[in-house]
Amino acid sequence: MTRIGMFFGTETGTTRLIAKKMQKKLGDEVCDKPLNVNRIAPEDMLRYDAVILGTPSYGIGEIPGKGAAGCFEPNWEEFFALMPDQPDFPGKRIAFFGLGAQERYADRFCSSLFALVDKFRVWGAEIVGDWPVDGYTYEHSAAEVDGRFVGLVIDQRTQGMYIDQRIDAWLVQVKPLLLEKLTAEA
Ligand SMILES: Cc1cc2nc3c(=O)[nH]c(=O)nc-3n(C[C@H](O)[C@H](O)[C@H](O)COP(=O)(O)O)c2cc1C
Repeated sequence: MTRIGMFFGTETGTTRLIAKKMQKKLGDEVCDKPLNVNRIAPEDMLRYDAVILGTPSYGIGEIPGKGAAGCFEPNWEEFFALMPDQPDFPGKRIAFFGLGAQERYADRFCSSLFALVDKFRVWGAEIVGDWPVDGYTYEHSAAEVDGRFVGLVIDQRTQGMYIDQRIDAWLVQVKPLLLEKLTAEA
């Protein structure tokens, strides 16, 4: 594919808003319009070589969905149920972003992000776009690995004023890495 793909799960629409904002910053020439994983088939994602994936956090660090995480809408869990056993992710480069609420869920801030990233890591994808933990206040997050978040972390509830600057700084980091993949595959 000549463009980046973007996919998200959401329960109440916030992750969709962030995905749309991010895609707008990248532009239609660079990134296709973001799609909700509750309305796509695995092939729709697998055709991209460079992808941005977003998730909210629900449950105790589970993959969001109607099962253990207790969501009402189909989310990543339902999408994964459609995936073949060994999806073809080697050679694909993926950057992740996660939404959470650091005050209310300080004991598991953005923890679902880790579960999502781990799934794709096991499937052989190359993960890019880790993010500093500075500027966030929480007790524990599964998404913090070796002192860095495994992707961009957004708290729309208590740190909405930082959303734009965080997205901009993160895109400066991940956009060339994702574009490099497209050029290499072209
Ligand atoms: C029932 C419920 C459980 C939540 N659990 C967590 C959590 O474990 N960790 C966290 O960081 N945020 C948690 N949140 C906050 C959401 O992840 C956050 O509000 C997110 O922006 C929602 O995104 P969405 O509108 O795309 O669903 C929870 C919110 C609700 C309502």
